[in-house]
Amino acid sequence: MPLPLKLQKSGQISLQTQIFEQMRGMILEGRLRPGEPVPATRALSEQLGIARNTIALAYERLIAEGYIETRRSVGTFISMQIPEGALYAATHRSVVPARGTRRAKTKTESPGIRSQALVNPHRRRFVADFWVGRPDPNSFPRKTWAKLISRRLLSAGSALTEYRDPSGFIELRRAIADRVRPTRNIATDADEIIIVGGCQDGLNLVSRMMLSPGSTAVVESPCYQGAAFLFESFGANIFPVRVDERGLDCRQLPNAKNAIAYVTPSHQYPLGVTLSLERRLELLAWAAETNSYILEDDYDSDFRFHGAPIAALKGLDRTGRVIYLGTFSKCLGAGLRLGYVIFPPELVDRARHMKTLMNNGQPWLEQATLADFMESGGYERHVRRIRKLYFSRRNALLAALEKHFSGGEIIGDEAGMHLAWRLPRHLPSASKVEKLAIEAGVGVYTLASGAAVNFDASAESERYLVLGFSSLTEREIATGIARLADVL
Ligand SMILES: Cc1ncc(COP(=O)(O)O)c(C=O)c1O
Repeated sequence: MPLPLKLQKSGQISLQTQIFEQMRGMILEGRLRPGEPVPATRALSEQLGIARNTIALAYERLIAEGYIETRRSVGTFISMQIPEGALYAATHRSVVPARGTRRAKTKTESPGIRSQALVNPHRRRFVADFWVGRPDPNSFPRKTWAKLISRRLLSAGSALTEYRDPSGFIELRRAIADRVRPTRNIATDADEIIIVGGCQDGLNLVSRMMLSPGSTAVVESPCYQGAAFLFESFGANIFPVRVDERGLDCRQLPNAKNAIAYVTPSHQYPLGVTLSLERRLELLAWAAETNSYILEDDYDSDFRFHGAPIAALKGLDRTGRVIYLGTFSKCLGAGLRLGYVIFPPELVDRARHMKTLMNNGQPWLEQATLADFMESGGYERHVRRIRKLYFSRRNALLAALEKHFSGGEIIGDEAGMHLAWRLPRHLPSASKVEKLAIEAGVGVYTLASGAAVNFDASAESERYLVLGFSSLTEREIATGIARLADVL
């Protein structure tokens, strides 16, 4: 049956993206049902009057993100298991009108707007949920925070009733500058820092300054959804660059001028590898040559378990090409919505204006409380404490995997709050393992359902699971992996 695709051949959006978006929409809205056959590329190319290769590329993307699947020598079908991350995005669609009613065109329906999975996309309670990147809720320093915040509240004067500096509370910016100098090797001062609502807000700020439809945004392949989807929403051309065991493969960087490149050099999301020094230098040289900027997302670098902490990429930047993003979501909690961006001097004024246009700055009370916590030394003690806790949990996960499975490979366990597990050869694909695990009450995640965009359609990328360990007790970790072994 012909697919009801409507393509704009002279529009700004490539035919490949239009096919991808429209088919994805039909799948999410249930107009194409799991198990239904997808037209062969030749048939669709004849129907639409466009090159077969364009359709093949759109199909590759749909396969990579789990919307359709090929069955050897049978054909291509709508996936039996649509990735949960996508379903989660679908639940964010406003109201689904009854059949036959006309919908008003809203911005969320325009092509290219989707959002990252923030919570376990299965919406299920698990015996053990290895969802990624969550601090342990019990680790939040409640008593100290309560004391500090009430002290600030009682002495706030006009701080809560008047506009403050949109760049952020100066004492917090100073405390951050003082911290990143020794811990991340970044020579900066408060003037180059803008306080934002977490990395996501920082990425928005930078995107609003630098992206317009048709700009080039280099991303890691696989990449954190929050970055790739955001750049896509600005109409940027996404240029995925493969990540291997030494991080981003810089030989693949494009020859485009004025691009941005989003990277997670300390602990690649989701694979967990560290960008090698040689490649860091190559990336910096590429940025200088092409007049591009690098967005360094250093989301979980406070948790390094082996060896000396690795300096930030920004610490090596001599030409002002790196914009550094830090967040308090991992060390304190994502509910705080606090992070910071460190800009090269030449961008600071524009960033300050843009931040003012966006929201006049972040809430004062939490910023002031955090500044006090940092200045008192309490924050550093807190980080040391939870680093130890997560180290033990990581070790418990490694021990459990070793006890129950042989032949797999662990990647990215030297740092962070999650690791990537390359499945042993005798186990089925990652999607199948995820599905079986759910039935056993255990949450484990493929790259695509673990908040990553997987641009790689190869079978190899279907061999990885991401496992977060920071919010589980050692006992939960042991039970979860034992159950997983049983069900497999
Ligand atoms: C790669 C990456 N960057 C940033 C963040 C944190 O974002 P935010 O600071 O907006 O909470 C996450 C959270 O999961 C992440 O995985």
